[in-house]
Amino acid sequence: MANNLLRGKRGIIFGALDENSIAWKTALKVKEEGGSFTLTNAPIAMRMGKIKELASQCGAEIIPADATSEADLDALFKRSVEVLGGKLDFVLHSIGMSPNVRKDRPYGDLNYEWFMKTLDISGVSFHKVLQTAEKTDAMNEWGSILALTYIAAQRSYPDYSDMAQAKSVLESIARSYGHRFAKLKKVRVNTISQSPTKTTAGAGISGFDVFYDFANMMSPLGNATAEDCANYIVLMFSDYSRMVTMQNLMHDGGFSTTGITEELIERLKK
Ligand SMILES: NC(=O)c1ccc[n+]([C@@H]2O[C@H](COP(=O)([O-])OP(=O)(O)OC[C@H]3O[C@@H](n4cnc5c(N)ncnc54)[C@H](O)[C@@H]3O)[C@@H](O)[C@H]2O)c1
Repeated sequence: MANNLLRGKRGIIFGALDENSIAWKTALKVKEEGGSFTLTNAPIAMRMGKIKELASQCGAEIIPADATSEADLDALFKRSVEVLGGKLDFVLHSIGMSPNVRKDRPYGDLNYEWFMKTLDISGVSFHKVLQTAEKTDAMNEWGSILALTYIAAQRSYPDYSDMAQAKSVLESIARSYGHRFAKLKKVRVNTISQSPTKTTAGAGISGFDVFYDFANMMSPLGNATAEDCANYIVLMFSDYSRMVTMQNLMHDGGFSTTGITEELIERLKK
């Protein structure tokens, strides 16, 4: 279905861990649509992950960076502009991690050091990415910067724990920095709120299979897959969405505006 929507565009893709990652599927789509990019992930994930496989498939350079480190981000943006041969048109922040979720800490007994880590990795890192992009003057006008989020920023999901707060921070940063970057450089900043998706980060949430099935039943179109999300990201990186900024874009098959579905009614009938 390639339409050359991103021909000549350059960017950075964060967060491809394995072939299930939303960032992995996005990298393949962006490549198919004519874009070129560098791939980055936390140094620790790169040793475990299969990012090299993806890099060779896409002809992309890998530049390790911990998204919480300003020094790493500075080096990443500068090196990306250098290897890609010019300023950037798109950036995907596809990063999430909570030590409290990982270690199954109940919400009433959180470790606050870990809480701060969750906020830093999954929320504040987006500000660091945006600020670094500005300070290194790495973005072209009308560039598009996206982060991925989840509806737990607006509604409570018991097992999502402190990730819910991180996603609220993330979405708020997109609005505040989106305003600033639009005025400065006409750069667009948005978040995409994605359906539950079977990836490493997704499966880390306990009870994931149940809320995956529940969301699927509550969405008239069903859950959006990682591949659907990659297609939407391509659209948001393309010139066809150039006046969209400071938005939290629901990409969820209709979940967020559905009260109940016939399928659930049938299921709940005694
Ligand atoms: N899977 C879902 O159900 C779902 C739903 C909505 C939104 N999202 C969001 O989509 C994004 C991508 O997640 P995914 O589902 O593809 O899972 P994933 O586990 O494949 O990706 C998460 C990535 O974050 C990276 N990461 C963690 N700490 C980092 C750090 N300090 N620096 C740089 N990178 C770091 C990991 O290495 C990994 O590549 C996340 O923001 C996630 O919250 C996921």
